[in-house]
Amino acid sequence: MANDPDQIARIEAYLSENLSPARFKHILGVRETAVTLAKRLGIDTAQAELAALLHDCAKERPDDELLALAKRHGLEADEHEQRIPSLLHGKVAPFVAAEQFAVSDETVFDAMRCHSTGAVEMGPLDQLLFVADFCEPNRPYTAAAEVRELAERDLEAAALEVMQFKLRKTLLKKQPVHPDSFHAYNALLDKLTHDSND
Ligand SMILES: [Fe+2]
Ligand SMILES: [Fe+2]
Repeated sequence: MANDPDQIARIEAYLSENLSPARFKHILGVRETAVTLAKRLGIDTAQAELAALLHDCAKERPDDELLALAKRHGLEADEHEQRIPSLLHGKVAPFVAAEQFAVSDETVFDAMRCHSTGAVEMGPLDQLLFVADFCEPNRPYTAAAEVRELAERDLEAAALEVMQFKLRKTLLKKQPVHPDSFHAYNALLDKLTHDSND
């Protein structure tokens, strides 16, 4: 079922008012990519649209606000998130989505929660958003175009590519790897190795 156009218009208005123009443009790019890929791969396009539109809705909140939002909703920030609160922007996004727009779809929330770090259990919508966030048209790197092409054929393989790219970048910058990313990488690798042996 398609999303309510009035709700989508309200979400778009909120995002354009509360986020920088570059972030808003990125979000619209993620929506375009997510919906196109969803159609192609037989994934629910309404859920893809909602998850894409809302995934970064808390991204520009200051650190103290992110931590306060998590605390208010009983979400305990781990040591990495305490140190780098922006890591929380995906996990707290569902709270904003529920409060502001009465969204309650847990599948959409799950995709939003793991869109930047990944997670051990990633369903089709999780992988779709994870990949679309990386390869939307405003992303400058050449890897984005390659991932987009791969995603049309094999979403899981594309998710692994994205994970590898992100991990390499983190390691090169000598930054700590969030445990969710580490476990997500191992899980994706394991799944793909098993699939190719079937
Ligand atoms: Fe994000
Ligand atoms: Fe994003």
